[in-house]
Amino acid sequence: LLKGFVFDLDGIITDTAKYHYAAWKRVAQDELGITINPAVNEHLKGVSRMDSLNVILKFGHKENAYTDTEKAEFASEKNDLYKSLIQQMTPDDILPGIADFLKAITAKGYPMALASASRNAPFIIDRLQLAEYFSAIVDPATLTKGKPDPEIFERAADLIHLPYAETVGIEDAVAGIEGIQAAGMFAVGVGSPDVLGKADLLFPDTAHLNLAQIETAFNAARK
Ligand code: G6P
Ligand code: MG
Repeated sequence: LLKGFVFDLDGIITDTAKYHYAAWKRVAQDELGITINPAVNEHLKGVSRMDSLNVILKFGHKENAYTDTEKAEFASEKNDLYKSLIQQMTPDDILPGIADFLKAITAKGYPMALASASRNAPFIIDRLQLAEYFSAIVDPATLTKGKPDPEIFERAADLIHLPYAETVGIEDAVAGIEGIQAAGMFAVGVGSPDVLGKADLLFPDTAHLNLAQIETAFNAARK
């Protein structure tokens, strides 16, 4: 029986992926002399701050060019830029369909937890005025591994006492879908089939997310 939901934030609840990208693009260009593109950005989605920097350095063939201290400075510079971009967010920045979707889930009594790798997640949820919907928010600083490891999704379910097999995870990143499935949960993807083909159920965008469809697909899969 479906018991509850674990949610990704960036790219599902709001489009902060564009801000992460803009901030990394600047730092990569100005500090590292590396020009990133949208294809590289796909590999930054769902990935922690330092892991993202490592993806960029690898892409630019500079994985051994900097000390850990320098890398920490680049990551913090990116975060300062990112934070300046998200300061002005409002509930208008909630992606289409998400407010109604969260309301529908709450109306049916399913608890929800947030499984975002972002240390800025609580701030963003606050700016979007969505805090009331989430019974728990995972603190990524307490995790040992990032997505695609299932740890963050397991922690989110643990915080609201959901058995993994009865939990649905919602994600826009390949690494996220993999993590949800590795936790034994039902993976709902939002995006294109070329990127998220492995999802148990796929919607083209957030406006199409539909609770009844998810319940039907979940029950069919668990028979
Ligand atoms: C999310 C985003 C990633 C980002 C990560 C860490 O998973 O999809 O692009 O790198 O959070 O975010 P933070 O705000 O802590 O730098
Ligand atoms: Mg995401």
